[in-house]
This record gives sequence, structure tokens and C-alpha cells, in this order.
Amino acid sequence: MQPLLGTSWLGQAWRYLPTCGSTNDEAAAWAVAGAPHGAVVVADQQTRGRGRQGRLWVSDSADNLYFSTVLRPPLVPVEVPPLTLAAGVAVAEAMTRFEVTPSLKWPNDLLLDGKKLAGILTEMSAADPRGVVSHVVLGIGVNLNAEAWPSELGDIATSLRLARGGRPVDRVLFAAALCERLEHWYQTFISDGPSAVATGWRRFATFFGRRVRAGTLEGIAESLDDDGALVLRLDDGRAHRITSGEVHA
Ligand code: BTN
Repeated sequence: MQPLLGTSWLGQAWRYLPTCGSTNDEAAAWAVAGAPHGAVVVADQQTRGRGRQGRLWVSDSADNLYFSTVLRPPLVPVEVPPLTLAAGVAVAEAMTRFEVTPSLKWPNDLLLDGKKLAGILTEMSAADPRGVVSHVVLGIGVNLNAEAWPSELGDIATSLRLARGGRPVDRVLFAAALCERLEHWYQTFISDGPSAVATGWRRFATFFGRRVRAGTLEGIAESLDDDGALVLRLDDGRAHRITSGEVHA
């Protein structure tokens, strides 16, 4: 993959695995063993692919991308969440290079016509909640070339290939584009802060104005604050900021 990489550090160290439990676990173990900032793990197949909130991420096909990177940001844990938004913008921009413009649903689902194209799972390790994190693993699953899913996912998943009228996407080229965009958005976040990431994120947001649920709250998804929080307009007119968890349409 290296000859295709236009990055300074992201993906310069990488491991390819035909199969593994989860690339996030492999990356975390490598981080503990000293993986450099920007090390990447890619697998053809995961036997225990994880999604957010304990969900399963179906990962049995080498048609798709299962990608994790080790990051060592100079941040304390509460400063980390916008990194996931930055990754969402990076994945969205990588997709535009393959002629697909996805939408971002807060915090980090990549959708096309309401169906999932990609998801991001961020996991961090910190010895002391007030100290700088030891590492962050950013796990990204992209439905690149799958054309069929188990029946329970058929209505909720799609792929870049389907979005391109059946034209496949080269996995190595996509991974290289992703590394390049991720490096750019990581650096933007670290140097310019979360408001620069929020500006990038809003360009792909299509769900503002829609009615959503967040836990027991319901309201209209109104905007994204500069710190990455989602602003809900509740029925009683109050604005409520959501900083963690998920929203459902
Ligand atoms: C989600 O939308 O729920 C997040 C899905 C994240 C899936 C990726 S695939 C690569 C990495 N390894 C995992 O086990 N999960 C992430």
C-alpha cells in the first residue's frame, strides 16, 4: 500500500491480516506493544467485528474494508470525541473521490438514502482520566463492494459499489485515500480545534430539520455546535445539547 500513500505518517506502518477477531483489538494490542502514531491494521475478514453500543459489525466479506488506526493525540479523554467527527469527514471526503457523496448522521454514521455505507468505532485508553490519553484506536468499517447482506441488514445497508451502479471500488486505492484524508483531518483538529472539524462536518450533514430521538428526549435536530455537540430543539422550545450517545430518526 505504501507506494500509493500520499501521507507523512498515517499508514506508514501497517499490518494486513487475512482474518482476525476485530481490527480494533489488533490495533489496541499493537498500540500497547509500541505501535507508532498512525499505524494501520487492515483485515479481509473479522470474526468478531464490533459496532457502536455493543452491536455486531458483519465482517465476513473481503469485498469490504475493515480498518483501524492507532492515534496518539496530545489530548485528555474529554477532548477526544471530536476526533470521531473528524474521522467521519475524512471517510466522507474519501468517498467523494469515488464519486459518491454520503451524508453524515450525528455522531458518525455515513449514509446514502438512509442506508449505512460506513461506521466508525473510537476506543481510547487512558491510565488517568485527567492525563493525556495513551492511545486512541479509530476503527472504520466501509461497505465497499458488497452487493448483498443477511436479510436483517438488507434494508439498512448499502455499499459504494451499489451507489456507483455496480462499478466496484479498489480496496487499496480507497484505503490510501482514506489515510490521506484522515491525516489531513487529524492535523486540522489538533492544530485548529473542534470548530474547524464542525465546519467540515456540516458540509455532509443532511438531517438538520428532522425529528429525532435521543434517549428519552425528542426534538428537531437543529445544528452542530462548534465543539461537536448536536443541538436538539425540544417541543417546549428549549435547546438541548447532546454530547454523547446516538440519535434515531
Ligand atoms: C458502527 O457504526 O456501529 C461502527 C462500526 C465500526 C466497524 C469497524 S470495522 C473495523 C473496526 N473493527 C471493529 O471491530 N469495528 C470497527
